[in-house]
Amino acid sequence: MTHRPQDDTGLVAHGIDTTRPSVARVYDFFLGGKDNYASDRALSEQIMEVAPEAPIWARTNRRWLGDVVTWLAGECGIERFIDAGSGLPTAENTHEVAQKVNAGASVVYIDNDPSVVAHGRALLVDNERTQFTAADLTDPEAVLADPAVAKLLAAGEPVALVMGLMLHHIGDFEETRAVVRRYVDALPAGSYLAVTHACNPGDGGPVAQVADALMEKVKTTFPTLRFRTPAEITALFGDLELLPPGLVPVVDWHPPSALSPDHDEEFEADVRHLIYAAVARKD
Ligand SMILES: C[S@@+](CC[C@H](N)C(=O)[O-])C[C@H]1O[C@@H](n2cnc3c(N)ncnc32)[C@H](O)[C@@H]1O
Repeated sequence: MTHRPQDDTGLVAHGIDTTRPSVARVYDFFLGGKDNYASDRALSEQIMEVAPEAPIWARTNRRWLGDVVTWLAGECGIERFIDAGSGLPTAENTHEVAQKVNAGASVVYIDNDPSVVAHGRALLVDNERTQFTAADLTDPEAVLADPAVAKLLAAGEPVALVMGLMLHHIGDFEETRAVVRRYVDALPAGSYLAVTHACNPGDGGPVAQVADALMEKVKTTFPTLRFRTPAEITALFGDLELLPPGLVPVVDWHPPSALSPDHDEEFEADVRHLIYAAVARKD
């Protein structure tokens, strides 16, 4: 992927400000991508001072995305996906994974980061079953009114709403719950909600200490980022019942039909609890 020319102020086309780190580009750096700038790399390195495993989390989260989408498109027969807070295109994006299982699968990506919007549109231009919507997910009415989203939902067929490492960017807990509830209300019966979320057990133990240190590093740059307790993350699902294995460290998530993840342990015991995953079905 090519970078757009940068002017003296650090601003590039499409409102991309390279002088301030962006969540999507920091994540891209951890995934070994090329769509990041000096400001992103500087913050990434500060994060790695307190959490050297950050690249492993990013890779593990992407593996979860691949696993969950493969399972949803295959075993669950889901043909429609909304990837909310999609991040920069990288290897094994949702449409690639879903369409590998079912060539007829449709995907709408949503993100509000200008870097993601520029790259997302460029990547997806030749795939008629894949759309990119530039929107702020904290405005569900605007998102649901978007033509691509509305069309995906209009058929009344089950949809998978995937929110990977996105909900923890909404600072207020009640607002986060309300946003999720509004989207779930709009999903047809038989739909799925799949979430990964940063966790702080809030018990003062080793995981909480890493989470607190991380927050300290990023609080000025990402002021709305919130690590939440397992109980809070579960509460974001509202009335939906979590499918087995329930809310678990992302590295431990596996489809309900499997007994365990099909990969080896990569984490030390403590830090595995910094990102949790869960999936629920709307009956
Ligand atoms: C860490 S990336 C996660 C990427 C991908 N979902 C994954 O799990 O691999 C989080 C993404 O959420 C997006 N995001 C955060 N808040 C958002 C909002 N209010 N509206 C739209 N996108 C948002 C960011 O721009 C970023 O691209």
